[in-house]
Amino acid sequence: MPVSFKVGHELRLYEHDPKLADLVAQLEDCVEFDNRRVLYQWIGGTRSDWRGQGHFRALTEEQEVWALAQRLRRDLVKTKNKFYEMRAVSRS
Ligand SMILES: CC(C)(COP(=O)(O)OP(=O)(O)OC[C@H]1O[C@@H](n2cnc3c(N)ncnc32)[C@H](O)[C@@H]1OP(=O)(O)O)[C@@H](O)C(=O)NCCC(=O)NCCS
Repeated sequence: MPVSFKVGHELRLYEHDPKLADLVAQLEDCVEFDNRRVLYQWIGGTRSDWRGQGHFRALTEEQEVWALAQRLRRDLVKTKNKFYEMRAVSRS
């Protein structure tokens, strides 16, 4: 049974999806898209019975290896205040 997951993908300066295009517009003042590839992490979680055992940290480390191999150089994590626990792992 999978106990933890996270989803991330490249975020480009010109996105076709309206929500992603809106996000890029909101980030205009704080993220440089020119000359760098941006990894966008937008959702993830660990089943409640399996939390606190390093599963999300392990996924994050694997994702970092993958991102570097893809030449993604900037890591951008989005969450909301209502997902309080995500703020702890956003710095990971
Ligand atoms: C946040 C969440 C993903 C953490 O998963 P996890 O497998 O328990 O995390 P890990 O055990 O790998 O811990 C990762 C890091 O976060 C820290 N951390 C995890 N939960 C924390 C909490 N509740 N408070 C503070 N720090 C926390 C750990 O100390 C660890 O830090 P470190 O790597 O510096 O040692 C999990 O609690 C969860 O799924 N929460 C709900 C997610 C959610 O709301 N998703 C919807 C929006 S995307």
